[in-house]
This record gives sequence, structure tokens and C-alpha cells, in this order.
Amino acid sequence: MIFDIEMIKEVYAKFPERVNAARELTGKPLTLAEKILYAHLWDGNPDSPYTRGKSYVNFAPDRVAMQDATAQMALLQFMQSGRKTAAVPSTVHCDHLIQAQVGAKKDLANAKEKSSEVFDFLQSVSNKYGIGFWEPGAGIIHQVVLENYAFPGGMMIGTDSHTVNAGGLGMVAIGVGGADAVDVMAGMPWELKFPKLIGVKLTGKLSGWTASKDVILKVAGILTVKGGTGAIVEYFGPGAESLSCTGKGTICNMGAEIGATTSTFGYDAKMGEYLRGTGRAEVADAADQIAEHLTGDAEVYANPEQYFDQVIEIDLSTLEPHINGPYTPDRATPLSEFAKAVKENGWPAKLEVGLIGSCTNSSYEDLTRSASIAQQAIDKKLKVKSEFTVTPGSEQVRFTAERDGLLDRFDAMGGVVLANACGPCIGQWARHTDDPDRKNSIITSFNRNFAKRNDGNPNTHSFVASPELVTALAIAGDMTFNPMTDTLVNEAGEEVRLEEPLGIEMPPAGYAVENNGYHEPASDGSNVEVVVAQGSERLQLLDPFQPWDGKNIEGMKLIIKAKGKCTTDHISMAGPWLRFRGHLDNISNNTLTGAINYFNGEAGLVKNQLTGEYGSVPDVQRAYKAEGIPSIVVGDHNYGEGSSREHAAMQPRHLGMRIVLVKSFARIHETNLKKQGMLGLTFANEADYDKFQEDDTIDTLDLNEFQEGKPIHLKLKHADGSEDTITCEHTYNESQIAWFRAGSALNKIKAENKA
Ligand code: F3S
Repeated sequence: MIFDIEMIKEVYAKFPERVNAARELTGKPLTLAEKILYAHLWDGNPDSPYTRGKSYVNFAPDRVAMQDATAQMALLQFMQSGRKTAAVPSTVHCDHLIQAQVGAKKDLANAKEKSSEVFDFLQSVSNKYGIGFWEPGAGIIHQVVLENYAFPGGMMIGTDSHTVNAGGLGMVAIGVGGADAVDVMAGMPWELKFPKLIGVKLTGKLSGWTASKDVILKVAGILTVKGGTGAIVEYFGPGAESLSCTGKGTICNMGAEIGATTSTFGYDAKMGEYLRGTGRAEVADAADQIAEHLTGDAEVYANPEQYFDQVIEIDLSTLEPHINGPYTPDRATPLSEFAKAVKENGWPAKLEVGLIGSCTNSSYEDLTRSASIAQQAIDKKLKVKSEFTVTPGSEQVRFTAERDGLLDRFDAMGGVVLANACGPCIGQWARHTDDPDRKNSIITSFNRNFAKRNDGNPNTHSFVASPELVTALAIAGDMTFNPMTDTLVNEAGEEVRLEEPLGIEMPPAGYAVENNGYHEPASDGSNVEVVVAQGSERLQLLDPFQPWDGKNIEGMKLIIKAKGKCTTDHISMAGPWLRFRGHLDNISNNTLTGAINYFNGEAGLVKNQLTGEYGSVPDVQRAYKAEGIPSIVVGDHNYGEGSSREHAAMQPRHLGMRIVLVKSFARIHETNLKKQGMLGLTFANEADYDKFQEDDTIDTLDLNEFQEGKPIHLKLKHADGSEDTITCEHTYNESQIAWFRAGSALNKIKAENKA
């Protein structure tokens, strides 16, 4: 059995009691999001309720899912924890490293050849540490999770922003960085700021050309790409219950596009049907028994304004299909106004490629609705004008769709079925174009459409819509086509109309699959060897960081005084460096190369105090390291904002930097620094930033008395012989100081696991 029914039963056994305790504690009826959060507290109920948007809370998630790009460093770190198996059920999914070029079979074979060392490594680590492994071609992480692992009322984290997709099955599922996955797999609590709550009340019922996708396209238009930040979006109301489970998944998936922590729906009959249809009747039975707790309290939904921080209402019966974009997913235009918008904005009217599928929209329902349009193109002798691709979300969906003749219909309309993988959604797309400088339009049923996201071309105008609308527009080859009102001319010169799409939520003959691509881990992995290819450029086993010797750090060189914005991208650039994500030493060659040096205004070009020459941060830092000289980074406000990428903390540590001293930190990066055994400090007096000079050598004066709440003083020795002493503050608590002493949080855990 792939899913862990015992774990789910354990969660459900405690659920009612925990929900009741939370209701008592807060003295009010609860939303579903609150129920799930309070049911997953690490330390049990607190003395007073948490403040939404303010309190930092430790949680105990039920599951972890990782995709192949982010899993590499997460698992390399996890191996340092000294555990024999992951503390909670965890899975790895190989979906990001497969480039779409000609079609599923060949593309998959190419990816296996190109990234075999990564896949072999991931498979062997998974096998050793009790982690489920989904091989390349098995499917896209979020679709596979929805089909196999998601369960109502559960909490999971995943190392990918669209982990939120599992909200379609009533979970609180949150996208995180690798460091968070390591914490949970290593048996540590997982911290999150208690989210705010946005309620979306759905009334009415979808019909005609309008699909679940249009709900989230509309919500994105209302809330914008930032509107959901720090909040859980909870959908409810009679309209919510009418949506298919996979449709709910689509809506939750794109919650990431409004910045929401996650989105979720209460448990209902559609979820029960989907669980049973995907071979999880036991989960449905268990959920049925505590169903009242797996949705928000009736009073909350009756008076949502009282209990949510913000409420939106959408009537599905009057909701129009939408097309969002270009360049941002929150630019929402109703279909009836879209042709006008194309003309007014000068967007290229010719549609070059229509792409359906991805983790967002590749359910059986999506494929049947799109196939019903494809069938009309065939029957009505319409020549399809655009290129058309289909990316199934999983082998189970692909196999079932093939068995039921859906893929044949796409094939007959000239479509190409790509591998069950991310492909064009993540820019893994070798798009054929005769002129990359031409402004051009594509439309997808994916989620993100920022510039260059799909094909790396800034001239591509990427739009997002439901798969059935994408299919209709691809047939027309025209962005101004409105299938609800317009006709097309077929090969016989006749005017024909595309009728409304027809979909089937669940396959009438049930889901089927021959080889789902899942590998169960060894029941005892102690003798399994982790495979890292000799001389690999992409993978490197980690050495534990050295523990602190308890002394002051003396003779540090100033490696860089960064000016202005310094995000995790400035500290550890993405793009071409992604291929080194599993090789700490190689990826360290990008460290701080995007940061602006205060003294010369150049990105990443700093003075080597030993030679007086200028070089890149990593080169200069390696020169210091070779001489055993530590260093310090100085930065501005909100240092480390952007992502939770742990590389931004590991790389400086690996290269021998010891302290990062800034005006203020982005909180996640500050925590990541602490976990990696770095000293993250802030200026007590911001003006002291100006005291740092290019040739400074720096000592800590009282680090040997490192204590919670006690400032640390630094002596700056300038090249002219003068000196300054400055005061620095820190936010380390006792256990974080213990991480620093041990050299890293993982060293500390390892020691505890040994004890
Ligand atoms: Fe993959 Fe795109 Fe989803 S990159 S995980 S298909 S958002």
C-alpha cells in the first residue's frame, strides 16, 4: 500500500479532541484551517490562542514531499541527521529534470541519460532512509500526491510552491524550502507564522465553458499576486461542494500565484468519491467518521465576516471564463472582453502554441473536457492552427486517458503528448521557433506566466486559462477567438461552432495503470549504499561543519559590505546554477556574486586584502580560506529576502565566512543561517554600517560569553591604525546557541540521535 493508513488513523484519532480543545481555548467556532493547524501543534495546546499574522508556532506536519531539484540538498543534509529513517512518511518525485522536446518517450530517455546520476542518487537515498521514490515519468509531484497521499484534515509540507495543490483534498499543504523538509524528516518541529484567514464563499454552480480554473483566475484578479500573503484561503459554501475534487485541487494549486500560505476546502462528498475512486476507500471511511471536524464550523460559514480576516463571494452560476496574463497571473480578463484587450494592448493575436496539463490541470475531468473540444475539431473538419501539447500529471492519469481514447483524440487533432513531468511549465522546453525575437503568444492551462517562465524568451506573451479554453483557442490559432460567440471556418469552407465542453469527473471504468513508477523503500536500509558518481559535478556528499571552539573569532576580513537589496538570489543565484544544487562546493562559486559592493558599486567584485587585487567573492573568499582566515559579511536592510533557499546560508558557511552582520534580516534567512551554524547579527546602531571600511580586520570581543539576549561587541581595526568598537544584537535562543556550538542544527540532532 502506497499511502500510510495507520498514520492517517492516528491523526484522526486525536483530531476531535484537539479541535474541541482549540474551540475552548479560542472561545469561538473554528474555520477548517484553524482546526487543522491546532490539531497539528508540536507542543499541544498553548495557554492562550495564537494571534493570526503574528505568533510563530511550532507544528508537526504529517508528511513531506520533495521534487527532484530541491530534494538533492535536502536529502544530502538529512543524511547528516544520524537518523535511520525519515521521522514522518516522505516521498521524492522526479519531475523537474525532464526537458520537453519531441514527445514523452524520447524526452524521458534523454532526461534519464542526462540526469541519471541525480536520479540514481535520489533513488538510493530514498531506498536507504525509508522514503518513497517516484521515478522519472511517474508523474508530477502534486498530482501524484493528490492521487496517493493527500487526506482531509492532514498537514504536509513539500519542497515546491505548488504543494498547496493538496488543499483540493482538504489538507493544509504548504510549499517550503529544503531546510524545512530536513527539519521535519529529522524529527524537529516546523515553525510557521500563524496565518491570517481569507474566506471565499462560493454559491451557484459551474456550467458551459466555465471551469474550476476560472474560480482561481477570478480570485487572482481580485486579490493580486500579493493579496494572499501570509494567509490561508478557505473555500466554502454550496458552490464549493459542487466542484469536483480535482477542480478543487486546481483552485488550491494556483493559490500560490496570489502568495497564499495555502488554500483548502472542507471535506465533502466529492472528496470521498475521489478517495474511493483512487483506491483509498479506507481513508474515505476514516474521514467519514470524523467528517464534522474536517470542515469549518457551521456558524463560521453562516457569518464569515466575523471569523475571517477577509471574505470574497463568487457566484459560480454567473462566473465567466477568464484569461489571465500576459506576464503576470493576476491580470484577469473575462473572455467576453478579451478580444478587445488583445487589440488595445497590442498583444500578438496569433496564437502559436496551446499547452494543457501540468500539475495544475491534468485531471481526468480536464482531459475529458479538452478531448470533447478536440473531438469537435476532428468531426467538424477544423484544421488546428496552433501547435498543441498535453502534459499528463501522472502515469495513472495518462494510462487511463490513453485507455479511454482521450489521447487518441489529441493525437488526431495534431497534438503532442509530453512526458508526465513539469516540462514547459518550468522552462524545461526546447521550443521550436523560427524567430525568437518575434513578439508571440502562447496560452497554457498551467499556473505561472512570468516573463521567460515557459520558454526562456522575454518576447513570449504567456496567458493562462482552463484546458478546454486553451484547446479551443489552439484550434482557432487566434487569441481573439471567443468560442461562446464566434464561429470558425472549416476545411470545407463552412462556418462551424464549437459546442460547450463535456467532461467526466471520474473515469467510468475506474483509474488504471500498468507501472505507476513507484519504488517502495527497503524495509531495512542499513546496508543500502548511497550512490554518488565518482567525480560528479552535480552531487557531493556533505561534510559536517566544524563545531565552534567556544572562543572569540579574531582576524576576520571584511569580505563584502553589501549595499541595498541583497536577496537570496543575490547570495546564491538560480538560473544556470540550479544544476549544482546538489554540489555545495560547485554551487558556492556563485556566492554573493549578485551582491553590490558598497565600495565600488560592482556586483560581487571585492578587494582581496592579501593581494590588494579585486576578484569575485568566491575567489577572494577561497584565498582567505586557504590561509585559514575567517571573514564577515556586512549588509543592509531585509538581507536574505526572497526565498527560503538554504544554499544562501550553507554556501557562506562552506566558504569560511563566520558572521553576517546586517541592518535587518528576512526572518527565514536568519533562521537558515542559525541552522547552518553561522552567526547572524544586527547593528544595535544602524549608523555603525558606515564605520566599516574596505580593508578592515574584525574581532569579536565577547562572543565567548554568547548568551540569549546579550549583545555581542566587535572591534573594527581599520587600515590607518584607527579602531571602532560597535555593538551587535542577535535573536538566538538557548537551543539555537546550542546549534551554533555544535556547528549546525544537524550536528546537534546527530549528537542527540547517537545519545
Ligand atoms: Fe511542475 Fe509546473 Fe507544477 S513546474 S510542479 S508542473 S508548477
